[in-house]
Amino acid sequence: KLEQHCGLGFSFPLVSGTRELQELIKPQKVEFHSLNFNNTLHWQPGRAATGDIIYFVQYKKLLKSTASLCLPLHRYGQSLWKNKEECWGIREDFCDLTHQTSGIREPYYGRVKSVSAGVHSDWNTSSRFTPWRETKIGPPSVNVTPRNKSIQLKLQAPNSPYTRRRGSKIPMTNYYDLLYRVFLINNMLNEKNKILAYEGTDKVVKIEDLKPEVSYCVVVTSYLPVLDRSSAYSSKKCTVPL
Ligand SMILES: *[C@@H]1O[C@H](CO)[C@@H](O)[C@H](O)[C@H]1NC(C)=O
Ligand SMILES: *[C@@H]1O[C@H](CO)[C@@H](O)[C@H](O)[C@H]1NC(C)=O
Ligand SMILES: *[C@@H]1O[C@H](CO)[C@@H](O)[C@H](O)[C@H]1NC(C)=O
Repeated sequence: KLEQHCGLGFSFPLVSGTRELQELIKPQKVEFHSLNFNNTLHWQPGRAATGDIIYFVQYKKLLKSTASLCLPLHRYGQSLWKNKEECWGIREDFCDLTHQTSGIREPYYGRVKSVSAGVHSDWNTSSRFTPWRETKIGPPSVNVTPRNKSIQLKLQAPNSPYTRRRGSKIPMTNYYDLLYRVFLINNMLNEKNKILAYEGTDKVVKIEDLKPEVSYCVVVTSYLPVLDRSSAYSSKKCTVPL
């Protein structure tokens, strides 16, 4: 009874192969990839997976308060595994769980099983995934305008997948204190030679004391002090000060 309550009583209406084959086609490297809270479960085919192979995905939220009730019977806590309908019998090796993992400070798990030639594998489960802690932040979008011996940047934080009631996207600055780091690349120097020209929260940044009629390029990163985590560089934007 407890087993069922804990979501272990999952039956699969398919022929069972040998334990060995089940193990050999089991999906590997089951892990969440997360960028700006776009949370996607990825995996790789099992070692012996060949030909026609389809995957089934489930997810669950770890209920912190009641987790101990089912332990150690079910080490992932009491909540039930739920089928991800859009990833039930798919051929792709990833599954978008963004909307199933929207409690950004809640811990989640995803798991995958495969079916090949009528044999179904065991589930393989991701490690615990807490979006707020693990997501990667993206760089801001950057617009540059030439000014008098200076350039002006307009920076916009990446959006989360979540929307306000009126439909606009909620930016990542809603969830983190985020700093922009603007790096100046003087084209005459080595591309790799970047100078930190600004660090802060301003959305409009002016970089002054530049030479007129010389091309300058900038790249910008988002930086999360609380996690000491930096985004990739934005795409390079160049302009010539007036
Ligand atoms: C999946 O299962 C294999 C053993 O079959 C194991 O080596 C692997 O670490 C498991 N976990 C994940 C997250 O892939
Ligand atoms: C997550 O990212 C993928 C790849 O960029 C995209 O196709 C998908 O629509 C995104 N999911 C959501 C819910 O925004
Ligand atoms: C540019 O700045 C110089 C002083 O630094 C000033 O003399 C000049 O009028 C400015 N030009 C414009 C277009 O603002």
